Amino acid sequence: MTISPPRSALYIPASNARALEKAPSLDCDAVIIDLEDAVHPDARDDAREQMRTVAKIWPSRPRLLAVRINPLQSEWGTEDLIAALAIRPGAIVLPKAESPQEITALGEAFNEFDLPVRPQIWAMIETPRGLLNAPAMAELGLHQRHGLAAFIAGTNDLAKATGVRSADAMQPWLMHILLAARAGGLAVLDGVHNDFRDIDGFEAACHAARGRGFDGKTLIHPSQIEPANRIFAPSADEIAEARAIKTAFALPENAGKGVIEIDGRMVERLHLEQAEAILAKAVHS
Ligand code: COA
Ligand code: MG
Repeated sequence: MTISPPRSALYIPASNARALEKAPSLDCDAVIIDLEDAVHPDARDDAREQMRTVAKIWPSRPRLLAVRINPLQSEWGTEDLIAALAIRPGAIVLPKAESPQEITALGEAFNEFDLPVRPQIWAMIETPRGLLNAPAMAELGLHQRHGLAAFIAGTNDLAKATGVRSADAMQPWLMHILLAARAGGLAVLDGVHNDFRDIDGFEAACHAARGRGFDGKTLIHPSQIEPANRIFAPSADEIAEARAIKTAFALPENAGKGVIEIDGRMVERLHLEQAEAILAKAVHS
């Protein structure tokens, strides 16, 4: 991603006018307007129109706007894409992505529109086939022209499709998604926490996802925004440590060194790169 990956990406069902109107005023890093699972199939035509109508009267734009369309091969896919592109999103979220061809097909579909800026593609890994093909899909991230910029773990659909019932049992798959994403240079967002009144549980889930290396979390309720922004941002301790590493390597006596000691710990130049990444992230958060 050329922009910092979102710490918080809030889904808003396109069928919910009141929530849509609020989109630009929310403090999440990204808004994902949903035309797929959160909208009843019979309500999808109306929801699509409502999205366009409400987006026209927004007084400002969300920080980063994404739209989740239905798969292109579904009966809603093409109409969804037309409506989504009309509101100039920064990203299109492709649900149930299962093969590299589906991602290149979406990129090719963009070519049929006169777009000042091509949106990024965020692919959801949420089916058994999608999981198995995640490494092949991630390879597309190495060729920027495809526009693939992120994976999102779709944990609800994965549970439904596999029968897995516990978060623990899903851990290896989340790490598989993480590893594939990083191999392709992609950002990676964790699935949603359904129990949105349970903020302690949500915070624990954010800490766990951060520990696994995820950049942020997809959200379903505004109450989840503040904790996600806080937990996925570099902590004060991490920022202080990063500054210390930067300062130490900047000293004239360390100029030619690949490895130095700080407070009894070995610090290499790779840690300097990590420190710089943390400080860059801190600026955005
Ligand atoms: N985005 C923006 N605003 C939201 C919101 C969301 N996802 N979810 C709730 N709100 C707003 C409500 O509009 C309400 O605003 P108001 O006080 O001005 O009326 C306020 O937050 C409080 O809402 P609350 O009563 O706590 O929730 P609810 O019962 O109205 O809705 C859900 C609960 C789960 C139905 C709703 O949060 C939702 O639809 N979430 C997204 C679901 C989704 O997109 N799923 C697909 C991906 S998994
Ligand atoms: Mg889904």
